[in-house]
Amino acid sequence: MLRLIISLNINSITNELGDSIIGSNFIYLDETTSTMDVARKYSNDSLNDGLVVFAEHQTNARGRLGRDWISEQNQNITFSILVYPNPEMINQLTILSSVIIARFLESIQLNPQIKWPNDVLVNNKKIAGILVESLFQENNPTCAIIGIGLNVNFFPSVESTNGKIATSISHELGHTIDRSIILIDLLKQFNNFYTEEDSWESIFEYWNQHLVTLGQNITIQTNNQIQITGIAESVNKSGALKIKKENGDIEYIDYGEII
Ligand code: BTN
Repeated sequence: MLRLIISLNINSITNELGDSIIGSNFIYLDETTSTMDVARKYSNDSLNDGLVVFAEHQTNARGRLGRDWISEQNQNITFSILVYPNPEMINQLTILSSVIIARFLESIQLNPQIKWPNDVLVNNKKIAGILVESLFQENNPTCAIIGIGLNVNFFPSVESTNGKIATSISHELGHTIDRSIILIDLLKQFNNFYTEEDSWESIFEYWNQHLVTLGQNITIQTNNQIQITGIAESVNKSGALKIKKENGDIEYIDYGEII
């Protein structure tokens, strides 16, 4: 299919961001291995706080649990943000990212759902993926890299999504959309939280309300490959999912993948 290649206008994006910490440094690449790797190279200097690395094409993009992330060149939004938050905030970044994306989707009249912990769906199809990597010094987290992949103008086919069901903003809206507008909105929202203009309580409440997982009978694969099946009842204050198993036992899962 013939596709228009429209590059991002980084000057207009950074102008629009004004004195935002997030995006105060901006690297825009045509191609790289993974924006996570590029951001990591800058992580030994906290002067790079808020650095955004955006790539039109990644040759080795990674997702959660060792999967890859497929994204068509120049059609989508794929970037990483390097941040130096306090330890409490580091733990909030995955939930935060899903809420920021969902809020944007709602602002353009889409109906976002969040699949625990942080997959963003529209019409039950994945539209965005989030990967947060924390970096440590002597067992203490020093900084984090937030990676976002958001399907914007690509037409999802089974081949382009590795057989998984995916969708994109343009597919749901029926028309293409300017990626700059989306990026500016997301970065401003990240900045509002980072500078504490936006509260954790409002983020958590939104997340809880948009979790489609609650009430469902699910199977979760934890990171040590154990599968747990039961009803997803609720989430606790730290985001762990409370599961009621068939035998009535309750289990709280901090990290895993609903399969
Ligand atoms: C997932 O759903 O498993 C998370 C996918 C995260 C993909 C993004 S794209 C930008 C950044 N660079 C990467 O290599 N991964 C993240």
